[in-house]
Amino acid sequence: MDTNRIDAYIDENLPRFREELFEFLGIPSVSARSERKADVRRAAAWLADRMRAAGLDAAIEETAGHPVVLGEWRGAGPDAPTVLIYGHYDVQPAEPLELWTSPPFEPTIRDGRIYARGAVDDKGQLFLHVKAIEAHMRTTGRLPVNVVVVAEGEEEVGSENLVPFLEANAARLRADAIVVSDSSMVAPGVPTIGASLRGISYFQIDVRGPAQDLHSGSYGGAVMNPATALARITASFHDADGRIQIPGFYDDVRPPEEMREQIARVPFSEEAFREETGSPALFGEKGFGTLERLWVRPTCEVNGLLSGYTGEGSKTVLPSTAMAKVSCRLVPDQDPARIAELFIAHVRRVAPPGVVVDVRELHSGKPWRARLEGPLHEAGARALEHAFGRAPVLAGEGGSIPIVSDFERVLGAPVLLMGFGLPGENAHAPDEWMSLENFEKGTHAAAALLSELAAR
Ligand code: BES
Ligand code: ZN
Repeated sequence: MDTNRIDAYIDENLPRFREELFEFLGIPSVSARSERKADVRRAAAWLADRMRAAGLDAAIEETAGHPVVLGEWRGAGPDAPTVLIYGHYDVQPAEPLELWTSPPFEPTIRDGRIYARGAVDDKGQLFLHVKAIEAHMRTTGRLPVNVVVVAEGEEEVGSENLVPFLEANAARLRADAIVVSDSSMVAPGVPTIGASLRGISYFQIDVRGPAQDLHSGSYGGAVMNPATALARITASFHDADGRIQIPGFYDDVRPPEEMREQIARVPFSEEAFREETGSPALFGEKGFGTLERLWVRPTCEVNGLLSGYTGEGSKTVLPSTAMAKVSCRLVPDQDPARIAELFIAHVRRVAPPGVVVDVRELHSGKPWRARLEGPLHEAGARALEHAFGRAPVLAGEGGSIPIVSDFERVLGAPVLLMGFGLPGENAHAPDEWMSLENFEKGTHAAAALLSELAAR
């Protein structure tokens, strides 16, 4: 049977797949850093070459930012379904570098894991689809369905240029199903279909006080300190029970009831989760469990703070400015545009006198809930069962992939979230890793998915 031959091809060629992935991971395609622009493009070119080697037509498509790599194969004919596979080849910055056990762009295997920036988020998970396509092509000379691969270079910075690309190319990208592998499984050996993603509204707050830093003795106490003003602002986001205090913030939040049943079915240990974070204790909105806090409740988190003297020893200075980066994670039916209005109005209202406060939105994305029935969902469940030997569980995802809701809106096709990360994978942090076993099983699942889709 074709399936057996395809699986055998994957098993036989895994060492080479791994070596190729290492090349991909060696390219520091950090989308947030302008000095990495050439590396981002190098990663795009590398990926386009691998797509061609797998048997796809591949092109680098320009956008106003980093390019999209588009791979296509339409040999299954107009009556066969078309599946669009989405992933991203950009990665988060690797700093702080000194906290990595091995350098972030020199992939290394330890304890059955591939350690590198982008290993799991998302190069490993994107590349395994390219390898699944190759396995079909080399084994049977064709694919069971038409395939379009959209590999983005700006996911980690908000996908601002992908939406216009999608809208401008909607006819060419027309698909019956969309598959995304950029999320995680709930535990090793437990294949997982993503049931939801949180949305996001990301803000920057700049506080300006005196024209330059001042002597904190000569002037302190007589002018408003921007760092203190910013601390007052960020402290106003929550009460002591972790409830967000921005008026109207919860107005459109759906009650958690509909997800409670799903949450109850997921194997989850609060203590193991605490351990994974390394925090002395878990904390969150009162009245909710950890998975509820992650999957069905919105947040308001300070991502970064900058102000004043932070060097060695002490310096008596009253800083002239302070800056914060803040992101709100959103759940259905919160609307990022409405949240931005509420957030900005709140910051302006609580800003103390004596400083100038500027607050603006950097990017946003809508929350998303999966359709958990229909041929795509069934095909995904079957493919995961084929690869992992057990049926998948459903899990909410705390993270965001803003383009997912745009895909559904613009292309009118459902999205399947079939992720192969694992708890503790250190995405966005030092020592990011992807499990070798999941790279292997993910490739089998991706290959099986194409066959399963053809059968429906
Ligand atoms: N792979 C993540 C998204 C993700 C994280 C899905 C956790 C499921 C669970 C993705 O690459 C990511 O990090 N996205 C950003 C989006 C943001 C920059 C708009 C995120 O969630 O912070
Ligand atoms: Zn990410």
